[in-house]
Amino acid sequence: MSAVLPSSASLYDRVRRVIPRIEWSVFVEDIDAILNLKRQRNAVILAHNYQTPEIFHCVADIVGDSLALARKAMTVDADVIVIAGVHFMAETAKLLNPDKTVLIPDLNAGCSLADSITAEDVRLMRQRYPSVPVVTYVNTSAAVKAESDICCTSGNALAVVKSLRVPRVIMLPDEYLAKNIAAQTKVEIIAWKGRCEVHERFTAADIRELREAHPGISILAHPECPPEVVAEADFAGSTAAMSDYVARHRPARVVLMTECSMSDNVAVEHPEVDFVRPCNLCPHMKRITLANIRTALEENRHVVTIDPHVAERARWAVERMLFV
Ligand code: 13P
Ligand code: SF4
Repeated sequence: MSAVLPSSASLYDRVRRVIPRIEWSVFVEDIDAILNLKRQRNAVILAHNYQTPEIFHCVADIVGDSLALARKAMTVDADVIVIAGVHFMAETAKLLNPDKTVLIPDLNAGCSLADSITAEDVRLMRQRYPSVPVVTYVNTSAAVKAESDICCTSGNALAVVKSLRVPRVIMLPDEYLAKNIAAQTKVEIIAWKGRCEVHERFTAADIRELREAHPGISILAHPECPPEVVAEADFAGSTAAMSDYVARHRPARVVLMTECSMSDNVAVEHPEVDFVRPCNLCPHMKRITLANIRTALEENRHVVTIDPHVAERARWAVERMLFV
């Protein structure tokens, strides 16, 4: 059986720039077990760009930003999908794969944006702004998606807003994403007050300090950052867009103003680029580990379920986004 497994040594070659050898020795057993379990259970692992490199580069089958994971979840040919990411990502995968087993290794891998709004809040917004369409960020529960007209991610939010061809939209729940999109369109955007606890901590002063300390540095920011940060950055885009920017421009030195693992994962692909790392950790993403991915596959937990009435309406909002 082990003959078909990638050898730990060849996997280590891939990540040696970002994982010290002493740490690697702790990971090897779980990596081998997970690779075996995936074959035994006909399972795939979908990992978000914020997962640690030993997950992202060594056991994941599909990696990407929220939009890519949702798109690829639609085409997965497997019995079991393990989400190495947070709960809303697992729910999105389940919405798109109602007949497959979707597992999340830790049920408490949440998101401050998803926690900032309830389905009742969306209904109240609709009452307050009748006939204004509701665009909901995927970083929300299925119950909130079910109250929405269409979903969006940071990778397609502007295109989704434009696709509606209306003068006004409600965009929930990320206040900063809504403001950053409003800066790029004439459509009036009514925002909610949610924030990403990771990205709200970056400031414009951080950017000025970075430019002073590293003249010529390229500064890329996620659109969940405050508008003044996005305004002073050289580029703003989803996690996949930031990664593409590095691949296209190959800056000598770069900073990704986002979650910490993102730089490690992109650095693996670009040894010639120097990554400066004033990053912030997402405690929810970091709940996912090799050990609990292994347990998820061994013990079939935690199975993601969604009330069928909620799922039907939420799926419609997600699928509508995927066809924009
Ligand atoms: P992306 O869709 O850009 O990957 O972002 C997801 C997320 O949770 C960012 O904080
Ligand atoms: Fe949520 Fe922010 Fe963590 Fe992304 S980084 S999962 S938006 S808390």
